[in-house]
Amino acid sequence: MAKALARTAAKTPAKAAASKAPVKSTPKKAAKEKGGCCGGDCDCGPEGCGDNCTCGPDGCGSGGCGENGGGCCGGGGCGDSKYACEVELRQFRTEDYKQLRQVWLQSDIELDETDSAGAIEKALKAAGGRYRIFVAQAQVIDTEAKKPAGKPKIIGGVVVTFDGRRCWVYHLAVDPQYRNVGVGRALLELCERQAKLWGSKRLRLLVKLDPNSVPAQRLYIAGGWQPNKEVRLFSKDVGGKTSC
Ligand SMILES: CC(C)(COP(=O)(O)OP(=O)(O)OC[C@H]1O[C@@H](n2cnc3c(N)ncnc32)[C@H](O)[C@@H]1OP(=O)(O)O)[C@@H](O)C(=O)NCCC(=O)NCCS
Repeated sequence: MAKALARTAAKTPAKAAASKAPVKSTPKKAAKEKGGCCGGDCDCGPEGCGDNCTCGPDGCGSGGCGENGGGCCGGGGCGDSKYACEVELRQFRTEDYKQLRQVWLQSDIELDETDSAGAIEKALKAAGGRYRIFVAQAQVIDTEAKKPAGKPKIIGGVVVTFDGRRCWVYHLAVDPQYRNVGVGRALLELCERQAKLWGSKRLRLLVKLDPNSVPAQRLYIAGGWQPNKEVRLFSKDVGGKTSC
């Protein structure tokens, strides 16, 4: 079996993205034993996928990776594939909206009026730079031709805001096919860096207490976030259009 191609899990603390420049992530974990490039249903291991695996710009074929396998960017390179994947962290652009919304929906993020394309556009303008959305964008690279193959895809995103006292993180989500390779952590680190740039002492976020949030809670704890056992969240609807 050929060596797994380098794939890029955006584990770099995204310094540049917080200060606007895009970040090309560095190759990180090789395909994980538990999933390989194919999300767990085929014979992928730390070295990549089995001989039948056919990876292309659109992901893995049905040969070895399964049709829902996750694609080359999902969890490692595939066998003999000449394709690798780069993940870039950068600020949200208007044209990202459709794909980002899809990632949020796939990740069961609860969306409301504040998450419409128009509302986001408005909020970004109104907040004077204190409302940021960061996205992770995957691009398959043809390593032989040394150029991008296929279109880039938004695979993750997060919202971070600063209200003058505290920073809040919302809507952290990673496309299910690209999880477990460091993208979520990189996005969160980017929020932390942004909060520091804003001069905020602390970041906060809310997590639902349900089994689906276990990966998120592990991510936060692994990243040094402290769960708060002494505070109860109160909220009240006062009739406006947005929820907070
Ligand atoms: C939470 C979420 C963003 C994590 O994204 P991700 O890119 O898969 O996470 P990472 O690969 O960066 O994982 C970083 C760390 O988080 C923890 N983690 C992530 N997924 C995990 C899982 N399924 N089980 C256990 N721990 C997990 C691990 O500590 C991991 O570190 P390690 O790989 O060194 O062990 C993603 O699972 C997701 O989109 N979930 C649905 C939406 C959601 O719950 N958002 C949070 C709302 S508060």
